[in-house]
Amino acid sequence: MRKKSTATPWEVPSRERSPRRIVLGVTGSIAAYKAADLCSLLVKEGAEVWVVLTADAQRFITPLPFKTLSRHAVITDRVDEEEGWKPSHIRLADEADLLLIAPATANTMARLAMGMADDALTAIALALNPQARLLIAPAMNGKMWLHPATQQNVAVLKSRGAEFIGPDEGMLSCGYEGLGRLWNLADISACALRMVK
Ligand SMILES: Cc1cc2nc3c(=O)[nH]c(=O)nc-3n(C[C@H](O)[C@H](O)[C@H](O)COP(=O)(O)O)c2cc1C
Repeated sequence: MRKKSTATPWEVPSRERSPRRIVLGVTGSIAAYKAADLCSLLVKEGAEVWVVLTADAQRFITPLPFKTLSRHAVITDRVDEEEGWKPSHIRLADEADLLLIAPATANTMARLAMGMADDALTAIALALNPQARLLIAPAMNGKMWLHPATQQNVAVLKSRGAEFIGPDEGMLSCGYEGLGRLWNLADISACALRMVK
């Protein structure tokens, strides 16, 4: 009888691994619901996707669609119940090829720029292996985006190698027109996949 493997999906031997391992961070933006479609697009293109939801993202969307679409457990907390000694956020930070944050709130970008690690997503970003890339797709009210604090945080993150896609211009869900819409999902997906080729 064949021995049952106890390896987690991230720990299978490297030749069996998907070459494109993407951690998709979803934050507390009204655009969070779009991240489920983004997850689906990435999976359809052959990426292995692990989803991390901030506490505020869970006010907008539940883990269930991500669990189903990604076919993996969703990380919703820094302290998880997973078997094994290694915390999930460290395991994902070690194994990811790309950390994609979409949508990214002003708040999460500020915390990334400051190097905070008080939730699973920011802890992954801080512990991310040096080969992994970081792609950020912001979504927010136009004044939040153009605020000097946000622009300074963007500059700090870019100076550390983070790539940005968007935001786009148009009608915002807060009722204003301007710069702040999440970039279209097909482009975000294509950009993410290009970055892990
Ligand atoms: C209805 C609603 C929509 C929001 N949309 C956004 C948004 O698109 N972008 C943003 O930066 N913040 C938005 N916020 C504020 C964030 O939810 C808030 O800053 C939160 O602390 C973000 O937490 P997180 O970055 O840990 O997910 C929104 C808040 C509410 C109540």
